Amino acid sequence: MTVRIGVVGGGTFGFNHLAAFNQRAAEGRAELVALADLNEKLLAEREAYFGVKGYTDYRDMLDEEELDAVSIATPDHLHREVALAALVAGKHVLVEKPLDVTEEGCREIEAAAHKHGRLLQVDFHKRYDADHRHLAERIHSGDLGEILYGYVHMEDRIEVPSRWFPGWAAESSPAWFLGIHFYDLVRWMIRDEAIRVSATGWKQKLTSMGIETYDAIQSKVEFSRGASITFDTAWILPDGFEAVVNQGVRLVGTEGCYSVDSQDRGTESCLTGEGMRTYNNHFIMKTKSKSGGDRYTGYGIESILDFADNLEFLAKGGSLDELEGRYPCGEDGLAATRIAVAVHRSAAENRAIDLHQEREIRR
Ligand SMILES: NC(=O)c1ccc[n+]([C@@H]2O[C@H](COP(=O)([O-])OP(=O)(O)OC[C@H]3O[C@@H](n4cnc5c(N)ncnc54)[C@H](O)[C@@H]3O)[C@@H](O)[C@H]2O)c1
Repeated sequence: MTVRIGVVGGGTFGFNHLAAFNQRAAEGRAELVALADLNEKLLAEREAYFGVKGYTDYRDMLDEEELDAVSIATPDHLHREVALAALVAGKHVLVEKPLDVTEEGCREIEAAAHKHGRLLQVDFHKRYDADHRHLAERIHSGDLGEILYGYVHMEDRIEVPSRWFPGWAAESSPAWFLGIHFYDLVRWMIRDEAIRVSATGWKQKLTSMGIETYDAIQSKVEFSRGASITFDTAWILPDGFEAVVNQGVRLVGTEGCYSVDSQDRGTESCLTGEGMRTYNNHFIMKTKSKSGGDRYTGYGIESILDFADNLEFLAKGGSLDELEGRYPCGEDGLAATRIAVAVHRSAAENRAIDLHQEREIRR
C-alpha cells in the first residue's frame, strides 16, 4: 500500500515539498494526491506542473481526500492551525520550520500528535546537509572534545523579505526564518539544551521600506554543559551579494575546531548580466533526469523524503517508538522555538533570558 500525501501551501518552499513527493511517487512509493493553497493562480500552475488536485481550502482537502499524511509549507505563523486540523483528522504531519512561533502552539501541536498517535516531523533540513552530518559525527565521536564556543551566520539577500513574501515578512524575522535552522542544528549536534539567551536586534532598513520587522538579530546562546554559541542572522544583504543565502558554522572544542562554509561549496560562475555567483549546491539542485524531466536533489529534498521514508516504514507495520530519535520531532521543534522566543524577548527587553528559570517558574 502506498502512502497518500497532501500538501498545504504550495509557494516558494511548498514547491520543494511537491517536487520531493512527486519524485517519490514516480518511483511508485507514494502518491502525491492534492495541494491546498489560497492563491488560485499559483494553485492552477502547481496543478498543471505536478498533476495534483487543487483545493483553495485545506479543510475541504482533508474532508474529501483519503490522505495518510499532510505536509505543511504555509507561512511561519500559519502552521499551527493547519497542523492541528490535520492531526485531529488522523494524518501524519510534516511541518516546515518553525513548528510554530509560540511555545504554547508547539506544545498544542505536539500534544495532538501524541493523542492521535501520529508522526509529527519538523523540516529542519540543515540536519541533512552531509557537511553538517559529518561535523555532528566528529562531535558525537568525541573528536572535538567538549564544545566550548562557536559561531553561526545565516544571512539572506534583501529580496527574500521584500520581494519573496512581503505579505508576511513582518510576521517573521531573521531569527524565525533563518536562526531557527541553526538553533536546531547546534542543539542537535552538541546534544545539549539552551539555558540562557542574550540578543540584540536592529530595525532600520526594512522598517524604512514599510516592512515592520528586524533587519538583523545577533544572539548568544549558552548551553547547559557550558558551550556558548553566537548566531548572527540578517535578511538585508544587498542584491549584488553572490548568493541568495550566506551561511556557515564554526565550532571550537577542547580538542580542536571545525568549520563548514554552508553556502560556498566550490562552484562559482560569472556570467554577463549576473556578476559573480557561488552556489550551495548541496541544498537543492535542479537538473534533468535520464528521461529528460526535471530532477531535484540535495539535502533540502532529502529531509522531505525522510518524512516519506518514515511514512513508508509506518505503513509497513513499523511503530513510532522505533522511529524515535531518528528524525526532527515535535520536541525538537519546541526546543528551537523556545530559543527563538527567548531571542526575541531578549532583543526587545534588552536583557538576558534564562530558559531554565522560566521552566522552573512555569512548574
Ligand atoms: N522560502 C524559503 O527559502 C524557505 C526555506 C525553508 C523553509 N521555508 C518555510 O516554508 C514556509 C513557507 O515559506 P514560503 O517561502 O514558501 O512562503 P510563500 O509565501 O512563498 O508560500 C506560502 C504559501 O502558503 C499559502 N497559504 C497561506 N495560508 C494558507 C492556508 N491557510 N491554506 C492554504 N495555503 C495557504 C500561500 O497562498 C502561499 O502560496 C515557511 O514556514 C518558511 O519559513 C521557506
